[in-house]
Amino acid sequence: LRRGSLPADLAGRRVVVSAGGTREAIDPVRYLGNRSSGRQGYALAATALARGARVTLVTAATGLTAPAGADVLPVESAVQMREAVLEARRDADAVVMAAAVADFRPAEQAPGKIKKTGAGPKPIELVENPDILAELARERTAAGQVVVGFAAETDDVLANGRAKLARKGCDLLVVNQVGDGRAFGTEDNQAVILGADGGSAEVPHGPKSALADRVWDLVRDRLPRV
Ligand code: CTP
Ligand code: CA
Repeated sequence: LRRGSLPADLAGRRVVVSAGGTREAIDPVRYLGNRSSGRQGYALAATALARGARVTLVTAATGLTAPAGADVLPVESAVQMREAVLEARRDADAVVMAAAVADFRPAEQAPGKIKKTGAGPKPIELVENPDILAELARERTAAGQVVVGFAAETDDVLANGRAKLARKGCDLLVVNQVGDGRAFGTEDNQAVILGADGGSAEVPHGPKSALADRVWDLVRDRLPRV
């Protein structure tokens, strides 16, 4: 597909994309965060818009400008992202979880700024966040709704990806190879997209918009005919 001549093959479709890294508050001024840039999620939103979809972008803080035409729902934490995504996807044809959702959050959020006491720092106790993707996959809210996850893996990329796809119960899992400065915070991605049907598609090193187009191709192929 040449860019600029994309088919409007998602016209009449509603999609939800999550993007960015969640921030988990420690106190009113501090949070636990991650290095996700949000660029892959924004590229997915922009590409879906270009292909004619109505797009809801649920975004954690990124500093990026949302693509024109997207319905933007800004959130901060994983718990807020879960609420926004569950609401937005109710009549959606597809949901893509490109966000880097924090696995853990501080068990308690201090009401005031934590101060030095001279007695050394207190440990921060963590609790696990809800798994949004697994919940989306378990409880579909529209016939034929397609659910897509992302995974960044380092070691046994394919085996980890297959296991994660099965565990999450989603239809597609985009597995990025990270480490050595790849993917996180960079402009380019290299990925393999695994299907619950056993299929896989390799996406060569290239811009995040190219990976986004491949993801939408595979989503489109799975959507029920209208
Ligand atoms: N995800 C989610 N909710 C979470 C954690 C992850 O929806 N609490 C989603 C991410 O948006 C991504 C997919 O799940 O689409 C995979 O994220 P990943 O961190 O690779 O999976 P985890 O189950 O958290 O496994 P790991 O222990 O490898 O981090
Ligand atoms: Ca995780």
